[in-house]
Amino acid sequence: MKISKKAIIIGTLSVFVLGIGALNSCKKDNLKGSDNITVAFQPTLSSYHIFHGTPGNMSPNPGFHLYNLATTLFTDYAEKQRLIKLPADSKLTKLDDGLPSFPDSTMIVKTFYYFNDARDSTKGKRMIETRLLIKSQGSWNLATYVWNSAQTEAYLQQSGSNTDVAWITATGQKMAISYHIPNIRECQTCHNSNNEIIPIGPKLRNMNMDVTVNGHTQNQLAYFQSLGIMSTFDPNGVQALPQAFDPKFSVTDQARAYLEINCAHCHSSTGFAKGTKLFMGYAVPFDQTDIEKRKDKMVEKVTKGEMPLLGTTIVHQEGLQLIKDYVATLK
Ligand code: HEC
Ligand code: HEC
Repeated sequence: MKISKKAIIIGTLSVFVLGIGALNSCKKDNLKGSDNITVAFQPTLSSYHIFHGTPGNMSPNPGFHLYNLATTLFTDYAEKQRLIKLPADSKLTKLDDGLPSFPDSTMIVKTFYYFNDARDSTKGKRMIETRLLIKSQGSWNLATYVWNSAQTEAYLQQSGSNTDVAWITATGQKMAISYHIPNIRECQTCHNSNNEIIPIGPKLRNMNMDVTVNGHTQNQLAYFQSLGIMSTFDPNGVQALPQAFDPKFSVTDQARAYLEINCAHCHSSTGFAKGTKLFMGYAVPFDQTDIEKRKDKMVEKVTKGEMPLLGTTIVHQEGLQLIKDYVATLK
């Protein structure tokens, strides 16, 4: 049985729960090793002292560093703030162009929110959930905290849930969805490499981009080096992931970057969908991706909302268009 996203949109929670249940049963064998829990998560997010002042301002405390990604995961148009905190006097160490090595006690924080009206941020925002990854004794642990309606505190939630969200987009369109907060099994399904939990976004190639900090534009990796939280190397020697939806990159580059961050965490030789042999990592040579053979299926699955398997409740129309444009170049 497959999870039908259509069923989720029009419908009933029971269909959804059934879908996840079925997924869980086929997943148990796959995820044997990922229950290596080395962190007891606190019941409330405030225990971690991530933000100061009114939480809704999302002002990080010293030690929590903002980071950006060249290409990001689509999650029903939610805005995201990403933070990383390392233990005192430690660094991220470059291994290759992928994930650096992270010291124990590294904490990565991702807050999902919506502007009430994306045309005017002064009209306020609604924080939905804050997801954490914490490394301890060599293993990553993950959890999410769901914000209360007063936006004063977020509470640990392992079981997943849905919440209605309404907002106005940057182009003035009114949107209303039933946003899905993933359960812990869903988190593990995406953050899985050979049955171990891993971070996905902060690969060096995906952070190798210009950022503007206090009005000063600089390479993000060089910026981290200047903060003393990244080992010394020349960022020019690191690959840079293209930015999906930036026309300065070719359609192929944009699409491969999009597939890397929206599909490849499952569709890789170590991921949950390794059995499909459809591998969409940016670094995978094209003739080893099997995209050529499966290109029409990719369009079909994304059009129907069947892929990505988890993490969205609506079709990402811009992403679908990009995949279609890319597939057209392969004909
Ligand atoms: C559909 C797949 C998917 C699911 C489900 C998912 N994540 Fe992620 N997560 C990603 C991807 C891809 C990124 C990196 C891209 C980005 O940040 O936009 C990411 C990023 C993160 C980050 C920032 C560090 C990193 O790995 O890049 C944290 C923390 C995180 N996820 C925690 C969680 C938790 C906790 C859950 C469950 C409540 C969860 N995730 C569910 C795919 C997923
Ligand atoms: C949460 C994990 C996950 C994510 C994320 C994901 N997939 Fe999949 N995908 C699967 C699994 C598992 C299968 C095999 C079962 C099935 O077909 O439903 C699959 C199957 C497929 C297939 C069918 C392969 C075949 O020929 O049988 C296509 C095409 C596909 N995915 C495309 C995508 C695209 C495109 C994305 C990103 C937009 C994506 N998937 C994201 C887990 C995932």
